[in-house]
Formats: sequence, structure tokens, C-alpha cells
Amino acid sequence: MAKSPAKAAPAAKAAAPKASAPKRAAAAPAAKATGTPSVQPILNQQFNAPAPLQKYGTVSQRLPIGLDEKTRQQSVTQLNQLLADTITLRDLYKKHHWQVVGPTFYQLHLLYDKHYEEQSTLVDTIAERIQILGGVAVAMAADVAELTSIPRPPKDREEAPVQVGRLLEAHQIMLKNCHDYAKQADDAGDDGTNDLVVSDVMRTNEMQVWFISEHVVDTPLARAE
Ligand SMILES: [Fe+2]
Repeated sequence: MAKSPAKAAPAAKAAAPKASAPKRAAAAPAAKATGTPSVQPILNQQFNAPAPLQKYGTVSQRLPIGLDEKTRQQSVTQLNQLLADTITLRDLYKKHHWQVVGPTFYQLHLLYDKHYEEQSTLVDTIAERIQILGGVAVAMAADVAELTSIPRPPKDREEAPVQVGRLLEAHQIMLKNCHDYAKQADDAGDDGTNDLVVSDVMRTNEMQVWFISEHVVDTPLARAE
């Protein structure tokens, strides 16, 4: 049987690397020489990887969960939108937790952090659902900023009612998407995504809207009117 010519290229491997060539990881020390495993880390492997394991925006059918590719693709796209918006809302809560000012400082400072933690839990739940569906979860801040539909707040410190207004707007954007996505997941037979969107994302956001909204009711502090 003839050997494949593509396999053997010893001459090319032996050639000295050119100065302009991209940096490549140093070869691991030969473990066979001493019979002990190498403890030398192999660095810069990102420069050697020929391609990512999976491209963002694609879905694989690797996990046998009884859903076809079209359904997975739809759910993954919508869950990545919810994920980007949830990460953004989570960070908006932390910004406001740090920057809040005024007579309701203590209440809002604590409440904002509680909601931050709850949104953090949602982030992980949504991202892991995306992976289960065979997708790739959006993760890094720059990518989230490109994808999110929540308006970007200024870096400035804002007064408490403005903070609350921003949060309520963000919650409303998310909740409108939740209703839309839950219906589509239900129609497509993706019960797990429907349940996540309704039971986790929608319920949490509705509850947070209640707690935040009551801070901006225009009511007298001490005297009934
Ligand atoms: Fe804190």
C-alpha cells in the first residue's frame, strides 16, 4: 500500500523559522528521554491552532437531545440575544450599585447588588443552555456590546430616579423578547428553552421590575395627601 505523500514533510519541518513567520510554540521537551512526564507548559498554542473547534453562529448535532438543527439554530440565536442583554443588565446593576446617591442610597445599594447576583445566575443558565443546544455562547464584553439591544449608559454618575428609569427600560426590552422567544420555542417544540425563558428569565425580570418600580412612585414621605 502506497504511503500518503501529504504526511511526510521532514525537510520543511527541519528548516529554520523565518524571522517574519508567526511565533509558534516551542516543541515540548521529549518525555521519552527521561521516562518522566514533562512539566513544561506548552505556551502560545493559539498560534498553532489551524481553526476553532466550532464557529460562533453555528450549531452542532453532537448532543442527542431530540431537537432538529433548524430548531436549535433558532433557539441559539435568540438565547444569545437574551444572554448579551442579560450580561449588559447585570453590569448595569453593578454600575448603579457603585454609583447610587441620595436618601435611598442604602436600600438601592443593597437591592442593586441582589439583582446583580440574580442576573449573574441567569447568565450562566442561558449560556449553558446554548451549549446544550449545540451552539456557541457569546461571552466577551466587546462581543456583548455589539450584540446587546440595551442602550449604552454614560460613564457618568446619574441620580437615582434616572438609574431606575434605565433599569426599567432594559427590563422591558428583555421581557418583550422573552414573550416572543418563549412563544417561538414552544411552537418549535423546544420545551427546555421555553421553560428557561419563562421560568427563569421572565419570572426573575418581572420580579425585579416590581422591586425597582416601587422606588419611583411619587408619594409623600410623612403626610397623607
Ligand atoms: Fe459591593
